[in-house]
Amino acid sequence: MNMIIMGPPGSGKGTQAARISENYSIPAVSTGDMLREAIANGTALGREAKSYMDKGELVPDKLVIDIVRERLDEPDAAEGFLLDGFPRSAGQAVALGEMLAVQGKKIDLVLNVALPDEEIIRRLSRRRVCPKCNAVYHLDHRPPAEEGVCDSCGSGIVQRNDDNEETIQNRLAVYRQSSEPLIEYYRKMGLLAEVSGTKPIDEVFGDIAALIEERL
Ligand code: AP5
Ligand code: MG
Repeated sequence: MNMIIMGPPGSGKGTQAARISENYSIPAVSTGDMLREAIANGTALGREAKSYMDKGELVPDKLVIDIVRERLDEPDAAEGFLLDGFPRSAGQAVALGEMLAVQGKKIDLVLNVALPDEEIIRRLSRRRVCPKCNAVYHLDHRPPAEEGVCDSCGSGIVQRNDDNEETIQNRLAVYRQSSEPLIEYYRKMGLLAEVSGTKPIDEVFGDIAALIEERL
């Protein structure tokens, strides 16, 4: 199954994407993670993307579309994939439709995770991430077993550069302007499923799994 998980910053896309990927054996393709890896590796893409990401602005469509196209060409995406954080603009949605059509593929399900703004701020200000394996933690809701250490790979966990109050506010504004309109775009295509992100992590996953099972 080819899926998209959408929603505002901090709504739980990455957390749920990891669960979906593990349970349904499909790769989770996160443009945010790929861009952060490019920054960590000091590539030309990373150097260009950093200034946008640090401000909470969208990285230009062309750069992001190219990395998604390359990633979806890899063999592990042949039998299904989950896109996290892409598409995020009308141009990206159209480009995705076109690149899948060329391969005789289509999107089967779009999960939209909703969360109120106050809760978004609480979640992002207490989030920690593993810069090595991209595991996501929360100091209250999902702390690592050993303080400051990633459960999965043992690296030190950190706060993301864009998880400060000012940048979070801009990410929310950019989301409303550029990405939220895609909810209607996919609703009109009959692909949208709404998920409430307010419940505990396991319960949100239970709701998502039920929506996926209906379509398998
Ligand atoms: P990206 O990395 O995609 O960030 P985002 O969309 O702002 O979303 P986040 O990753 O912050 O949140 P999330 O929804 O994954 O929540 P999480 O699971 O971590 O993008 C970053 C930047 O990259 C963009 O600003 C842009 O510059 C660039 N970019 C990326 N894609 C792009 C694109 N397509 N085009 C252009 N530019 C692009 O959860 C958050 C916290 O809550 C965690 O601490 C977690 O443990 C906790 N939590 C999760 N679920 C629950 C729950 N149910 N209950 C309690 N706590 C929970
Ligand atoms: Mg994420």
